[in-house]
Amino acid sequence: MRFANPLLHKPARTLPKTAAIIGAGTIGPDIGYYLKSAIPGLTLYLVDVAQPALDRAVQRFRDYARKAVERGKMSAAEAEQVTTNLHATLDYDAISHADWVIEAATEDIALKRRIFARLESVVSPETIITSNTSSLPAARIFSELRHKKRATVTHFFAPAWRNPIVEVVRWDAADPAILAYLDWVFCTTGKVPLATDDVPCFMLDRIFDNWCNEAAHLLGRATAAEVDSVSAEFVHAGPFFVLNLAHGNPIIIETNTLQADEEGEHYRPAPIFRSVDTWRTVAPGKPVTVDQAVAADVRDRLLGILISQSGDILDRAIGAAADLELGCRLALGFKTGPLDIMRKLGDAEVTRIVERLVRERPGLPAPRKPLGEYQQFHRYVLVDRLDDVVVVTLRRPEALNAMHDQLTDEILDVIRTFEASSEIAGFVITGYGTRAFSAGADIGRFPQMLGDAAAAAQYARDCSRLLVHIDAMRKPVVAALNGMALGGGLELALRCHGIVAVRQAWLQLPEIMLGIVPGLGAMVVPYRRWPAAASVFHAMLRRAQRLKAEAARDLGIIDALADDYAGLIEAAVVRVRALAGKVQPANGAAVSVAAFDTIEPVAATGQRLSVEVMRIVENAVRDAAAAPTLNDALEVGYGAFGVSACTAAAREGISAFQERRTPDFTKTG
Ligand code: COA
Repeated sequence: MRFANPLLHKPARTLPKTAAIIGAGTIGPDIGYYLKSAIPGLTLYLVDVAQPALDRAVQRFRDYARKAVERGKMSAAEAEQVTTNLHATLDYDAISHADWVIEAATEDIALKRRIFARLESVVSPETIITSNTSSLPAARIFSELRHKKRATVTHFFAPAWRNPIVEVVRWDAADPAILAYLDWVFCTTGKVPLATDDVPCFMLDRIFDNWCNEAAHLLGRATAAEVDSVSAEFVHAGPFFVLNLAHGNPIIIETNTLQADEEGEHYRPAPIFRSVDTWRTVAPGKPVTVDQAVAADVRDRLLGILISQSGDILDRAIGAAADLELGCRLALGFKTGPLDIMRKLGDAEVTRIVERLVRERPGLPAPRKPLGEYQQFHRYVLVDRLDDVVVVTLRRPEALNAMHDQLTDEILDVIRTFEASSEIAGFVITGYGTRAFSAGADIGRFPQMLGDAAAAAQYARDCSRLLVHIDAMRKPVVAALNGMALGGGLELALRCHGIVAVRQAWLQLPEIMLGIVPGLGAMVVPYRRWPAAASVFHAMLRRAQRLKAEAARDLGIIDALADDYAGLIEAAVVRVRALAGKVQPANGAAVSVAAFDTIEPVAATGQRLSVEVMRIVENAVRDAAAAPTLNDALEVGYGAFGVSACTAAAREGISAFQERRTPDFTKTG
């Protein structure tokens, strides 16, 4: 069983203790560096046929680690770990005891098969073998393997040490437990594994390769610089710019020839790839004047191939819609996913573009279903069933699972879908990965609200649709805090009927450090639910003081602690079942709250705070506590958030976050 949230899998194996990478070219050492920095204590072998390549690879580890220390991303001790137990060798016998071998040699099927034959002669049948290929199907490269079930393709994206996406290919001979284990390993170590079918180029490179190939087919009408410039509406860097960076022309020839041989001439690589080495293009962002009619032609065809390939991937179930969106953004550099682009274009425009593509490039697939059907999926949450419990996982790995109204509405949608079912005891809400439950409300949405109290208050109300629904529910919802729970993320957890957490989780309301106040109930609900902890909430709201999970458990806010993700989910499910049938709608009565003492406007971190925003917090807590109903109290919170959004402090705090600097509230008051 392969769960949507890989960490729900309970693997029979632990994280690998010894791993080996075959191939010390470009991507092999990058994969190795990721493994060494993510798995403490790992022994890693780099294997190649050329000593100079191995020497360069080891040097690269040292250079990366040094830079990470310089940038404050790694401690000196962690950097030391990365280059300890790192062995570069020409000898396959040295890796006989590896738990996992990743082949990252040249994209040459005969060479790969020779490597696997050599590998199988030295490693145990239990050793997991994966190949990093961007195009060659697993069934083909592993056809001569004696023990096939331990093998699959794990396709990394450049730069592999930092890019979170990894495609994990499901193919007939692979043991599903091995695939689930690989998903688990990747997710545990900070990657985002995406399941794809075993077709040429898997999921994401069907988009990327054909996007590049289509760009080349357009060269009769526009120059490379013009095509790149038009594409900038959709991608951070145009296809020709990326091809130059990656020396990608031979790759497109190879991968599109593979697709053409398998699926039809329409995928054949444009002949120009064989005669050009470097494209004449300009850096992203540099202005290029493009004739309007030419720009319209190029735009249509680029969009056409994007829609064609996205429709084909979903029609053939090569991958899932949410994974396609996420992968296109995080691995391929699209500004928004193709399905979001289609939604914004609207059905009539999509139809026109596809008809044009099929007319000008006969054979390319067009979406087979009515367009609206491609939009029916959850973009930001994963949904799994553990018997009678539905587990909803927040998945926005690029923003530590930060929340916005679309995400909270998706959770609400899942709850509404299952709530009435007699088979369902209740819900668990957790976060993707091991770092964050949620880093709070998505700060990227704030700038447009600054200065508009009514819009900001309404946004808080919109984000609260889910929370207000939970308040009235009779089936339990339990928050499983897999890491930090900040701001709006914590406000969601505080509204759930139960909270469990991993031991290293921590809670914080950092809003005041941004010059705003938490608007989704944090100034209201904790005082009504845990009145004895009022002074702790005062400090969290006014000084952004962190509360460790253990301390929150002692205060009765958290029900149970767990040592790891598996234990966390288990505890959450136990809590759901214990609460089943006992949940009462949230209490609406007013409470009395101890007066605020006078404190300096300084956060627990020492950061200076805005006096004005601190007063907004204090007034809101006081007014909300006295409000006769929960709804009235929540309205106080929405309103206070709106007021804070109009302060100079908010403008300064939000800009500072986006500019990655400490805000200066001394000038704002
Ligand atoms: N909204 C939007 N994006 C967020 C976010 C949020 N609340 N919290 C984190 N992110 C993004 C970061 O911008 C960063 O994106 P980038 O890689 O494109 O730059 C990514 O998530 C990773 O965060 P980063 O800050 O690089 O990680 P870190 O380990 O250095 O710091 C935090 C982690 C949580 C301390 C820091 O991200 C933070 O202070 N976030 C804001 C928390 C907050 O104030 N929440 C309340 C909002 S009302």
